[in-house]
Amino acid sequence: MKIIASNFKTNHTRSSTKSFIDTINQFLESNQIKNEVFVFPTATSFDNFNTVSNLKIGAQNAYYTKNGSFTGEIGTEQLDEFDIKTILIGHSERRHILKESQKDLTLKYNYYKSLGYTIIYCVGEPLEVREKGLTETLGYIWEQFEGIDLSYDKLIVAYEPVWAIGTGVVATAQEIAQVHKKIKKKISHPLLYGGSVKPENLEEILKIDNVDGTLIGTTSWDVEQFKQMIEITSKN
Ligand code: PGA
Repeated sequence: MKIIASNFKTNHTRSSTKSFIDTINQFLESNQIKNEVFVFPTATSFDNFNTVSNLKIGAQNAYYTKNGSFTGEIGTEQLDEFDIKTILIGHSERRHILKESQKDLTLKYNYYKSLGYTIIYCVGEPLEVREKGLTETLGYIWEQFEGIDLSYDKLIVAYEPVWAIGTGVVATAQEIAQVHKKIKKKISHPLLYGGSVKPENLEEILKIDNVDGTLIGTTSWDVEQFKQMIEITSKN
C-alpha cells in the first residue's frame, strides 16, 4: 500500500491544523482507507490529536536532544508530550536554506534512530547538478546518504529533486524512474517521490516503478486537495 505525506512547512495555524487533521481523520475513517498517511504540521500546532492508527503526526524538525539550551529548537521532551514518534530529516529547505550540514543530519539521524522514531529522510539534487547528468545526480545523492544507516528498519526515504520543489516543475516519469531504481538497489525501505505533486499528476507518479508513495508540500495544504490525493493513493 502506497504512502502519502503532507509537509506543512511554515503554513497553517494551530486552529487550521486542528481542523485539517480532524477532517483527514474523519475521511480516512469513513472511507475505510488504510494507507499510511503522515502530516507534518508546525511545532506550534502540535496537540494530542485523536487519530486512526494509520494517520501519523510528525515533526518537520527537532534537535538531537531531550532538552537543554538550544535556543529556538525543540527536543524529545516536547515531542513526547504529544506522543510524536515520526520526524523528517534532510529536507532540502533545511539543507540549503537553514544550512544543515551532512554531519548535523547524521547526528540528528542517529539520535532519532536510537529512540526508534520513524524517519523520513530526504535526498535530492539541485538544478546545476541535474544539468550535469544522471551520474553526477546519483553521486550527489550518495553523498547525502553518507553517515546514514540505511538498514534502519523505520526508515522511509524521499527523493525530492530540489528544482522540482515548490516550482510547479515536476520531474518526468523517466527521471523519477531512473533515480528510484538506483536508490532502491541500495535500500529495501519505502521510497517516496516529492516535488510539485498535485492531484493531476499523482496517479502517473504512483504508477512509476519503485515509487512507494509521495511527500507533498504546496498542494497538500488545501484539505480538499489532500483528501483527493489520499483517495488517488488508496486506489493505486
Ligand atoms: P512541493 O514540496 O510539493 O510544494 O513541491 C514538496 C516538499 O518540499 O516536500
